[in-house]
Amino acid sequence: MNRKVAVIGAGNVGASVAQYVAEANLADVVMVDILEGIPQGKALDLTQAGPVRMYNAHVTGTNDYKDIEGADLVVMTAGLARKPGMSREDLLKANADIVGGAADNIKKFAPKSFVIVVTNPLDIMTYHMFKRTGFEANRVCGQAGILDSIRFRTFVAMELGVAMTDVQAMVLGGHGDTMVPLPRYTTIGGVPIGELISAERIKAISDRTRDGGAEIVKLLKSGSAYYAPAAATVEMVKAILLDEKRVIPLSAYLTGQYGMKDLYIGVPAVLGAHGVEKILELKLGKDELDLLQKSGQTYKGFLKEIGY
Ligand code: APR
Repeated sequence: MNRKVAVIGAGNVGASVAQYVAEANLADVVMVDILEGIPQGKALDLTQAGPVRMYNAHVTGTNDYKDIEGADLVVMTAGLARKPGMSREDLLKANADIVGGAADNIKKFAPKSFVIVVTNPLDIMTYHMFKRTGFEANRVCGQAGILDSIRFRTFVAMELGVAMTDVQAMVLGGHGDTMVPLPRYTTIGGVPIGELISAERIKAISDRTRDGGAEIVKLLKSGSAYYAPAAATVEMVKAILLDEKRVIPLSAYLTGQYGMKDLYIGVPAVLGAHGVEKILELKLGKDELDLLQKSGQTYKGFLKEIGY
């Protein structure tokens, strides 16, 4: 294939991203990890699935960042996963070191690439990647809102016993405790959610979505969610590689939109061949805007903790 995706971190999220990229025949994939044998072994295993999963993508694994040379797009998943009782924010400093190191290598070996950050705490790690690579803001974004939105869609569909694919939803804000679900932009087969589900149940579904990651961590006991996070990420990979101009909530760099600047936070954006091509400014109600800005203030605090 003539497209190349580099996945940093061959753990649960990284390997699932590699699998979905290969299965969608989107690009060749190289996985990079510090663990010797793990990226190589998973890559070989994934390659051997090709004949029956109907793909010919080259999937390789390496411990050497040099092998990401020529990547069109880099997915950053390396980092420590959340353990039970650990908040996303607990991960802040440990993962900042990992993201900083990866950013230096991406800048060196794939200086023209687009970068999608998945490592948590998401909005802060995406800002860190942006600053450390020095890439233009349209080339660096974070995967968060799309995962929160698909979780919300799933719970709405489960509530009514309808097709998940017929539910459309928009979730803004930070990934985690400061997420801002927007029920009034949620529709089921085109019908606004408020006409079909009570306000009380919508609130319960919003709360469950906000705690969506934690619910899975609690069940798994070790490790965190990866199927849906990887699937959400690959939607973004596809939007960029195929120039789809998809409207996707993602962590983008704000320069005054929604009354905030110099930070990354979840907003709806158009994603295509130029990366984040446009940030869409919704007319939010006062309460919604307050929540979003509160989310932003929280992140400014965390950014200070890693030296910004
Ligand atoms: N360079 C490359 N790989 C690294 C580095 C590094 N500096 N540091 C750690 N890794 C690798 C680990 O060896 C491991 O294989 O990152 C991988 C992380 O995989 P998992 O522990 O399975 O974590 P995963 O579930 O994939 O989550 C990764 O995504 O959703 C977020 O919160 C999650 O931040 C976490 C990230």
